[in-house]
Amino acid sequence: MKTTKDFYTMKQNQEKITMMTAYDYPSAKQVEAAGIDMILVGDSLGMTVLGYESTVQVTLDDMIHHSKAARRGAPNTFIVSDLPIGTVGVSIEHDVKNALKLYQATNCNAVKAEGGHLTDFIAACKNIGIPVVAHLGLTPQSVGIMGYAVQGKTKDAAEKLIEDSIAVMKAGAIALVLEAVPSDLAKVITEKLSIPVIGIGAGIDTDGQVLVYHDVLKYAVDRKPKFVKVFGDFSTGVDALKQYHQEVKSKQFPTEEYMYKVKVMGEIND
Ligand code: KIV
Repeated sequence: MKTTKDFYTMKQNQEKITMMTAYDYPSAKQVEAAGIDMILVGDSLGMTVLGYESTVQVTLDDMIHHSKAARRGAPNTFIVSDLPIGTVGVSIEHDVKNALKLYQATNCNAVKAEGGHLTDFIAACKNIGIPVVAHLGLTPQSVGIMGYAVQGKTKDAAEKLIEDSIAVMKAGAIALVLEAVPSDLAKVITEKLSIPVIGIGAGIDTDGQVLVYHDVLKYAVDRKPKFVKVFGDFSTGVDALKQYHQEVKSKQFPTEEYMYKVKVMGEIND
């Protein structure tokens, strides 16, 4: 399994870091089999797996449940697990308790938290040994306030994002996820930071990329953000299911190949 130190070395050597979301045993198993460097059990599972409209209904128990399944599917991959809305940003004691619960219950390698206001929390986690990945730019848990708009588009907003990025690094974040920011700003932030910057909708110059499994594989998703490249097509599964439905109805399935046959009374040939 790659470690935080390996990701720092990859940044220094300009070797790109790959990260992909996975939320359960089969998706994590596939991501590990593909050799992807890191798994993110993102709270985007609220939309992709649980059918919510956003991440705001996701609970800590949801994250624990799915992170545990992902760990079983990918025992040898560095897993980052998301702290959902309301679990951080309240008080240090409250926040650290939640981070520790997620970290201990799931055997993940790091937790992720959204927002530039969490520097004290990040430092407190570092003090007790919990690695934190910070998440800046578009932070989906704040959809009710910022929507899904590209961030850092004005001079002031860009400067604030640079400031926040440096602050979370100084507080002890092991990496930064930077979402939906102009590519040139992402480049500046990546160059300024000594920790790996993993981009999503942040251009080519970040130290790595993260995308959502269901987006990449066209797996029961109805929307495609601009930054998503579709690399596979799981939507063909619907055709397979239609064929199954039709073959059962028309008595084409199961054929003998799929049956247990009794050769002699009491003897079963499987
Ligand atoms: O929850 C998630 O999948 C994320 C990514 C969009 C970075 O936070």
